[in-house]
Parts: sequence; C-alpha cells; structure tokens
Amino acid sequence: MYSAKMPDGFLWGGAVAAHQLEGAWDVDGKGMSVADVMTVGSATQPREITDGVIAGKNYPNHSAIDFYHHYEEDIKLMAEMGFKAFRTSIAWTRIFPNGDDEQPNEAGLKFYDDLFATCHQYGIEPVITLSHFEIPFNLVKKYRGFTNRKLIDFFVRFATVCFERYRDSVKYWMTFNEIDNQSSYNNDFLMATNSGVILDKLTDQEKEAAMYQAAHYELVASALAVKIGHKINPDFQIGCMINYSPVRPLTPSSDDVLLADKYEQRRAWFSDVHVFGEYPNEVEAYITRNGYRPDITDEDRVVLKEGTVDYVGFSYYQSTTVSAEKVNPDQLNDLEKAVAVNPTLERSDWGWEIDPEGLRISLNHLTDRYHKPLFIVENGLGAYDKVEADGSIHDDYRVDYMKQHISEMEKAVEIDGVDLMGYLPWGPIDLVSAGTGQMDKRYGFIYVDKNDAGEGNLMRSRKDSFDWYKKVIQTNGLDL
Ligand code: BG6
Repeated sequence: MYSAKMPDGFLWGGAVAAHQLEGAWDVDGKGMSVADVMTVGSATQPREITDGVIAGKNYPNHSAIDFYHHYEEDIKLMAEMGFKAFRTSIAWTRIFPNGDDEQPNEAGLKFYDDLFATCHQYGIEPVITLSHFEIPFNLVKKYRGFTNRKLIDFFVRFATVCFERYRDSVKYWMTFNEIDNQSSYNNDFLMATNSGVILDKLTDQEKEAAMYQAAHYELVASALAVKIGHKINPDFQIGCMINYSPVRPLTPSSDDVLLADKYEQRRAWFSDVHVFGEYPNEVEAYITRNGYRPDITDEDRVVLKEGTVDYVGFSYYQSTTVSAEKVNPDQLNDLEKAVAVNPTLERSDWGWEIDPEGLRISLNHLTDRYHKPLFIVENGLGAYDKVEADGSIHDDYRVDYMKQHISEMEKAVEIDGVDLMGYLPWGPIDLVSAGTGQMDKRYGFIYVDKNDAGEGNLMRSRKDSFDWYKKVIQTNGLDL
C-alpha cells in the first residue's frame, strides 16, 4: 500500500460537532436548538423533527455522550493518540440561547474557555465550526430560519462574540458546516439542519426558492464574519466547509458526462461564492431563469467579495454516480433524482458507497478549482461494533477503510502536490449520528457504552483502531 510522510505541522486529529456529543442540552442556560427537536431514527426510518420537545419521545442529542461533563477525560484520550488538532463546534444556543438575545450567556462562553484550555494543555489545536446543524429553535419558529434576512445579523453577532472571546485560543475557524447539503432542497432534514427551515406544506418549487434565498443570506453572513474575524485577529484562518462528493458519469455517453457536470455545478457554487466572492454563471443563469433569490443587493455583492475564505474545509465520505436515464441534464433540479448506483463499489451497512480513490480525485478537483489550501475535516466509516467478552473491540473494517483513504490522501499530497492542512476523521469518539440519531452507527477509535435506546454506562474504551491511528500519527503517516 502506498504511504508517504506528511509535511511538518500536518494537523492529524479528529472532528465532532457540539450537538452530537455534548449532551447537557438545557444545562447552564443553554437554549433549544433544531437538533434538540430531532428524534432517533435508523438506517431506514428518518428522524422526526417535532414542533418543540414532546414528552415521551427519544431525543438522542439531549444527553448524547455527555461530553459536557466528560471532556477532560475524552481530550486526554485523544492526546494519547497524539492528536494535533480537534475539530468541534460552538453550540450557538449555549452562547445565545434564543439566537436573538442581546447579550451572550457567560456560562456557555466559560465552557468553551475551559475546553480550549484543556486542548492546549495537550498541545491540541482547536478547529472550530460556528454553525454545525444546531441553529437556535427560536430562530426557526419566529423567523423561518435563514429565509429571513435578520438571521444575518444574529449570526454575525454570535460569530463576533466567539472571535473576540477566543481570539487567542482558537486560530482555525469555519463558518457553516456542509453548507452545500441543502442543494438537496427536497430533503427536510438537510434544510432544517443547514438553514433552520421547516419545509412541510411547500411545493417543490417553493422549497427550491427558499433554499436559494436562505443560502444567499448564509453566504453573506459568512462573508461578513470572515471580514470581522480577520480584523479581530489577522492570524485567524477562516475557511468554508462543504460536503464534497466527486461526480462520476455512469457511462461515457455525452448525456451522462454533461449531467455529471451539471450536478457538480449545482453543488459547487456554494464554495465558489465562498472562495471567489461571486456566483458562477451557470447558477446565476439558473436562478434568473427561475426567479429565485429575489433579495440580493449591491451591498451583498460587495460583502461577498470582501469576505472570501482562507481555505476550503471539506468532508469526504463517498462519490456520487449519475445517469441521464434518470433525468435529462437540461431538466436537472432535484439532484437526488439523478443518482445511480455505482456497480463497482461496496457499501456500508447504511448504504454509503466506499470509494477511497474518490478522496484523491476530490483533492485534485478542489485544488484545481480553488488554488487554496485544503483541509479534510471529516471522513470515516459508520459501522456496528461488537464488544467481546473481555471488552476488546476488533474493528479491522474501520482500519481497512481508513488505511485506504489515507493512502489516497498521501498520493494526492506527495504525487499531485496538493496543499493539505490536515486530516480530521469524523467521530474519533462514538457519538450520535447526525443523519439517523443513532449511537450504534459508530465512527470512533474510542468506544462509548451507550446504544440506540439510550442505555449504557457511558464508559469509554479503546478499540483496536485506537492504537493503529496512534501509530499513523506517530510516524506522520508513513506507517499505515
Ligand atoms: C456529516 C456531518 O454530514 O456527516 C456530521 O457534518 C455527520 O455532522 C457526518 O455526523 C456523518 O453522518 P452520520 O449521519 O453518519 O452521522
């Protein structure tokens, strides 16, 4: 298997999000977020988004793995693996419980002071996402989330408070997690988590229109935050964060190739705006043709130009294959309709295609497109783990998956010359799945004793992958 040493200072580590591990959902003044009204689902059963918290339903994010009270022990375990960086998010509702509050909540700010100090004690660099699927529920209800221009101000106030408070303890930031997920505007979960928009009762066209307007306000909010952040601390590195999936045509036919290009254009524009500060022609034409995003001002266009990002952070889980037998390239709107099964790839228990070469392809595409440093801030395999009688967990499937992906990443850096800041695989410690709300869909090197029904004693233990990843970091990627 190909391997190579990564450059000095390469940020090996792992990534999580506040709502998926902290728990303590209503502790120390925290308000309710959109993640707090999502029930547990499964591989086949989508999570329900309820209108507030309903007694008797199982909301897994309320207690999660109680990182809020276990973070010292958990960061210590990550330090034992040799982590150089730890990505998490700041729960917006710990700082502004309702989102539209005038003053921040001091207890929430203090929690992150302590968390970041613990990271630094072990030489671990925090990498912080400002909005990771946890918009205050009050903003969803009262303003219809990011379809309302007022959300720009609320987000910018939140970002500014964070930048000022953590000016000297955080250097790496990202604004909106996987902002491009909402290109699947028909998916209620993705619209709620990205933009705080609950879509029921809208027609397909209204949904698409809502997405383009909401995403525009988010992009403006992000640009303003980048601009303000750089003023507060010129050393800040502020990136965007997208869910990148290279698109493969199912066959070499022109229709399939064109469809693959169209599909890419309908997703990549989010990061185009983040990086170039302007909308690409294809999307501008599509929006104009359909009468979407009616509210864009000249001032917005200036802001977008002034707040471009320093790097491109992205998650990579799988590639996408499309077929023009499913949809005509000129009639592509609902992206999910274009997707075909790639017959050459294996799938996880949740149906996610496993495509390590797709990671190298992604790194090349993004480098060629943006000429910016890249940062892999999520990658990994969600799998069922079996605890043996002696407590050990032999997760060789996870090690295999990661070996192959890291090997492709190392080819991209060493052979293709990609400028890569680091590798932060998803969920180094088991946590609540965003998509299904399950605990049993596990990504961790560290096992947490808790299952989908919420049972377990929360004990942490090391899986076999723990020692393997420790060795990878120790050898800076040479020994896979
Ligand atoms: C990404 C998200 O989409 O994928 C994470 O940024 C999420 O929040 C991760 O957890 C894995 O998805 P899932 O559904 O397996 O948790």
